[in-house]
Amino acid sequence: MTRRLQILSASTRPTSAGRPLARWVTELATAQGQFASTLVDLGEVGLPFFDEPGLPADGVYVHEHTKAWSATVSAADCFVFVLPMYNGGFTAPLKNAIDFLYAEWRDKPVGLISYSAGTSGGAPAIEMLHPVLARVGLRPAPHTLSIPAIDQHVDPDGRFHPTPTLAAETNAVLCSVAGLLEARVAA
Ligand SMILES: Cc1cc2nc3c(=O)[nH]c(=O)nc-3n(C[C@H](O)[C@H](O)[C@H](O)COP(=O)(O)O)c2cc1C
Repeated sequence: MTRRLQILSASTRPTSAGRPLARWVTELATAQGQFASTLVDLGEVGLPFFDEPGLPADGVYVHEHTKAWSATVSAADCFVFVLPMYNGGFTAPLKNAIDFLYAEWRDKPVGLISYSAGTSGGAPAIEMLHPVLARVGLRPAPHTLSIPAIDQHVDPDGRFHPTPTLAAETNAVLCSVAGLLEARVAA
């Protein structure tokens, strides 16, 4: 059975350093062959701030953008969130994108790859995200990756240049996601 993986790029900046990283993660996941992989760029999804009259947990949506976002997320078995750190936490667009839906996230594995300009690689953003993931039932893969000094890996043409260690660590995140999926199938 093909596992459908979405790599979700959580920055909406037109100059996002994470977009090249997310593109590269998508290519790596495709080459690894464990998943049918799709890149979902929150900058392109273009959600407004949450504006549904009802509660997402009820699953009744009135806006076309919510229905489209619901269809996108429903089409995935698992995710990798590629998220920058802003001011010590994850981005508002990521929280907004999560808040829009509920059942669509439930019980799906998610790998977490953070990045930042500084030395932490955005690890605090991952930490801050965990309670939110738990609330909607997303299951974080145990192996995470935090990439410091992200700008040093992105060239002026917008290509991401991994070190061998980064490639191995990203593979480990993907395997960790696959492991959670296997556990769910076996359960
Ligand atoms: C609003 C904002 C806040 C930021 N806060 C931090 C921070 O707390 N620590 C850090 O190391 N880098 C911080 N940065 C730098 C980002 O990690 C870096 O610019 C990264 O490339 C942002 O991701 P993006 O380019 O995909 O949007 C911040 C950047 C922005 C735009």
